[in-house]
Amino acid sequence: MKITYRPVTKNDLPDRVRWFNDLEISQFLGDIVRSGTTLAKQKKWFEKILKEKNRKDFVIEVDGKPVGGVALLEINKIDKNAGIFIFVGEKRFWGKGVAKSFGIYRQLWI
Ligand SMILES: CC(C)(COP(=O)(O)OP(=O)(O)OC[C@H]1O[C@@H](n2cnc3c(N)ncnc32)[C@H](O)[C@@H]1OP(=O)(O)O)[C@@H](O)C(=O)NCCC(=O)NCCS
Repeated sequence: MKITYRPVTKNDLPDRVRWFNDLEISQFLGDIVRSGTTLAKQKKWFEKILKEKNRKDFVIEVDGKPVGGVALLEINKIDKNAGIFIFVGEKRFWGKGVAKSFGIYRQLWI
């Protein structure tokens, strides 16, 4: 099982709609996500984050297929820290070390 990360693109938005509209996934992801999403909302979100300088959004892939996402929020380049938003949208991959693997990479991106 090879876990990799790449920047989120427009092509990932339909997956995000499917993942976030599953309450089992979105219940702990905050009010905005939990209240449901649509492709139109995700497109708006994507345009907005492209302009934000202190966040970075990635897709998590297992063996080249998207399984979830991770975002570094409020990146502080001076103190080298950030907040993390993480989810594994393909539930069959829960409990297999996907989220934990992020720790290896995150220092590279701040
Ligand atoms: C929570 C979530 C990101 C974990 O991802 P994962 O790839 O299944 O987790 P991992 O297999 O890498 O496990 C990492 C650690 O978290 C623990 N863990 C995994 N899922 C957990 C859960 N639901 N509750 C409590 N601990 C959990 C694991 O036991 C492991 O602990 P260990 O290091 O002591 O062994 C994933 O279940 C998910 O996306 N859930 C829905 C969205 C969500 O709740 N995101 C977090 C919002 S803050």
